[in-house]
Amino acid sequence: MNKVVKSLRLHRDPQEFRLLFQSIHSASKSGLILPDDELTLSDFMRPRSSAQSNILSDETMKDKRALSKGKRYFIETYGCQMNVNDSDIVHTVLQGEGFSIAKSAEEADIVLLNTCAIRENAESKIWQRLGYFKNVKIERRAKEGHYGTGPVISVLGCMAERLKQKLLDSDKLVDIVAGPDAYRDLPRLIDAVSPVESKEKGDMSTAMNVQLSFEETYADIIPIRTAGHKSVFLSIMRGCNNMCSFCVVPYTRGRERSRPMSSILDEVRYLRDVGTKEITLLGQNVNSYADFQEFKPKINASKNYFEDEYAKGFVSVYKPIRDGSKRFADLLHEVASIDPEIRVRFTSPHPKEFSKDVIEAIKSHDNICKQLHMPAQSGSSGVLERMKRGYTRKAYNNLVETIRSEIPGVALSSDMIAGFCSESEAEHLESVDLMRSIKFDLAFLFAYSLRDRTHAARHYDDNIPENVKLRRLQDLIYEYRQGLEEIAAKEVGRRHIVLVEGQSKRSSSQLTGRTDSFKRVVFDNEKVLESYGAYVTQSLSKYISLKPGDYAAVEIIPGGTGATLHAKALGKTTIKDFVAIHQTTIPLDKYL
Ligand code: SF4
Ligand code: F3S
Repeated sequence: MNKVVKSLRLHRDPQEFRLLFQSIHSASKSGLILPDDELTLSDFMRPRSSAQSNILSDETMKDKRALSKGKRYFIETYGCQMNVNDSDIVHTVLQGEGFSIAKSAEEADIVLLNTCAIRENAESKIWQRLGYFKNVKIERRAKEGHYGTGPVISVLGCMAERLKQKLLDSDKLVDIVAGPDAYRDLPRLIDAVSPVESKEKGDMSTAMNVQLSFEETYADIIPIRTAGHKSVFLSIMRGCNNMCSFCVVPYTRGRERSRPMSSILDEVRYLRDVGTKEITLLGQNVNSYADFQEFKPKINASKNYFEDEYAKGFVSVYKPIRDGSKRFADLLHEVASIDPEIRVRFTSPHPKEFSKDVIEAIKSHDNICKQLHMPAQSGSSGVLERMKRGYTRKAYNNLVETIRSEIPGVALSSDMIAGFCSESEAEHLESVDLMRSIKFDLAFLFAYSLRDRTHAARHYDDNIPENVKLRRLQDLIYEYRQGLEEIAAKEVGRRHIVLVEGQSKRSSSQLTGRTDSFKRVVFDNEKVLESYGAYVTQSLSKYISLKPGDYAAVEIIPGGTGATLHAKALGKTTIKDFVAIHQTTIPLDKYL
């Protein structure tokens, strides 16, 4: 506790201090303590002074600001959807400060690589790109005949947070390092490394801000959505407190913090007004959402957190200090109610937080998609314990059963890791068995990649040979594909509501979209009845062409694969009409 309080004093923000102290104080009083992983809070946070750049006078910074205006930047994004969303936030920040977007990285004045650190190969790709940009820089300098030009190379995101100074020390490949909570500071960092005059001699300076925050959620920034407005991602929380033993995310993204619900709902209303049809709520641990704006801790609360807050049989090393806060289920109800014709999804959740009220919320809104990501990671209780996931195989199976019986027709997806530390062949076969018995609609399967600083890196041996990891990964992939084929065969003849995205990549005469269950569907782009109801009742109606953003009722036909289903479009529809038709004439659970 003392160690923690000492590290807290490094922070000057009284609000941060108050919230943290409350949570630590409460955790220690209840006998629940921070995990025994030798970390202090300073491992998550850095003192404010750690934002480093050359100390320049106000006058010089003003000159640099003026010079930066109109400079062109280019962002390359790697990793998960959070990074895609963060890149859109960076667009907003930079364009708000007068930077403009370049057509390509090669012609940009500033190149920003928004990086991922989840596995070694994710980082290897970035090192290769940095090598490439070093050459671009050398060539441009040679062409222009002086120092101080060439693109400013910035590394953002999780790799920036993980490697920090090491990136700046790396053979002058990188000029700016900015962690995921430092994007508001990017204009200043860019100014700091830009020469005041383009012919200024000498190497460019470097700048870094890798300070993680207890509060930053970019709540007031509406991201410039480069992928359009029809189907969008909306960040609701950042960070993760779970500390799974294999995972680097808590070190690169810091502690959990949630956006105020009011700011999320304002953004949803804005999205409704610009014609959005699908919103995916985003967060590293999305269903742990808790809005503390109206936080009032209850004295002597008798609540049994692990029974009431979590799915049965699931625990966490952290006691959630969330009593009195607005929770994920509340948010789901609110978001889904804004417009019943906007689909709502969310990612990426932890299975423990599929509590009763979250399941109830999903059930009670037709526009919350019946598709849940439930990362299992392993099918072996022994491995799950070493992974510090907080559940057993049995608890996971029970949760799947509960969800499947509560939400008929629900589609499930998962993440699995092959070859975690000391995974025996028998433990691996339990994972294969889990894949076989559950049959996920979608799975992200990986060979284990050791990440520095994690509990696993410090306490376990990464002792499964690479070839064994890869063979085990192949076993999982094989089992997954078998399951997918079975699922695809059962789909033939079913009807789904599909949100039309546009032309299919393979053929301009076909359209593509996703079902409520997130399955990709392709179908011929031919005129359909204006109303699916008319198709069902065989009454007269106009024929129309479908366009992106329309909902279409489709029937699955043979010829698809596990990954992409083939369908015939039956008519344009709405969520309300589709559900009503299938509740009155055809059982809904047979079709969703
Ligand atoms: Fe990583 Fe997910 Fe575990 Fe958080 S819940 S530590 S993001 S695997
Ligand atoms: Fe990668 Fe960071 Fe996302 S490690 S997966 S970009 S949270």
